[in-house]
Amino acid sequence: MNMQGKVAIVTGAAAMLGSAIVRTLAQAGARVVAVDIDAARGQALAAELGAACRFAACDIANDEALDALVADALRIEGRIDCLVNNAVVYNDGGMGAKRAEWLAALDVNLVSGALLVHKATEALAAQGGAIVNMGSVGGKFGTADRALYPAAKAAILQLTRNQAATLAPRRIRVNSVSPGWTWSDALSRMAGGDRARADRMAAPLHPLGRAGDGDDVAQVVLFLCSDAARFVTGADIPVDGGFSMLGPDQGRSARDWFAAGMP
Ligand SMILES: NC(=O)c1ccc[n+]([C@@H]2O[C@H](COP(=O)([O-])OP(=O)(O)OC[C@H]3O[C@@H](n4cnc5c(N)ncnc54)[C@H](O)[C@@H]3O)[C@@H](O)[C@H]2O)c1
Repeated sequence: MNMQGKVAIVTGAAAMLGSAIVRTLAQAGARVVAVDIDAARGQALAAELGAACRFAACDIANDEALDALVADALRIEGRIDCLVNNAVVYNDGGMGAKRAEWLAALDVNLVSGALLVHKATEALAAQGGAIVNMGSVGGKFGTADRALYPAAKAAILQLTRNQAATLAPRRIRVNSVSPGWTWSDALSRMAGGDRARADRMAAPLHPLGRAGDGDDVAQVVLFLCSDAARFVTGADIPVDGGFSMLGPDQGRSARDWFAAGMP
């Protein structure tokens, strides 16, 4: 999956998962514009990767900043081949969230990526480009006490299909990737920084027996960005170790549940 000569924009690039996507695209030969509001981590990533990566400090919830992001990419890099909408905020007050909280969360998690797609469409069309939107298992199943994040993620899966249908005549492919639990700042915090503990907690829910790594997700993003996926559009690819293939029976038949004894 050779990305030599291609230019990719990745939002939310400074944290663990986003930076794994940036590294993987850069290793495949792409020049990557790493977008984030976290300047310290973003600049450190760009310094690590050298010429393969340029950090762009940008609040994706700001329209002028998005215009400048696209204009700078065209002026400095000369083209845009791929856009990875990965940035997120996890603020989620559940059913009790106030209107302002709803709008702020949806603004970053859904609306900003949609607007960036529109702003980058002409540039992407010029290259027969690819867009990858970050979904989540969180957008596919009911979860108690959460509302803002899963609503945005479910909408992203639908929006991906709308964008794919709209942009196919322009030769732009649009797909989503839906990770399961992935080793990240959030998961690390919950596991007290203990990766083995995160894997033990994840194992019963992810048939492959562990939490995902940023690189597990990044490899699939690379595939979708690359020419290897040239006939793939409007698809969602779960990168969840089997999480989403399971039903409520956790992959065990009624016979197994009875054999395990009455609750
Ligand atoms: N971590 C997981 O277990 C998991 C599971 C499923 C899906 N995902 C998805 O993967 C993606 C990355 O998740 P993560 O866990 O790495 O999140 P994270 O919170 O660790 O990182 C998100 C990044 O987005 C940046 N960001 C936030 N608001 C921004 C804004 N307005 N403008 C620009 N950048 C902004 C943050 O600074 C941060 O660097 C998200 O789309 C998330 O929904 C993650």
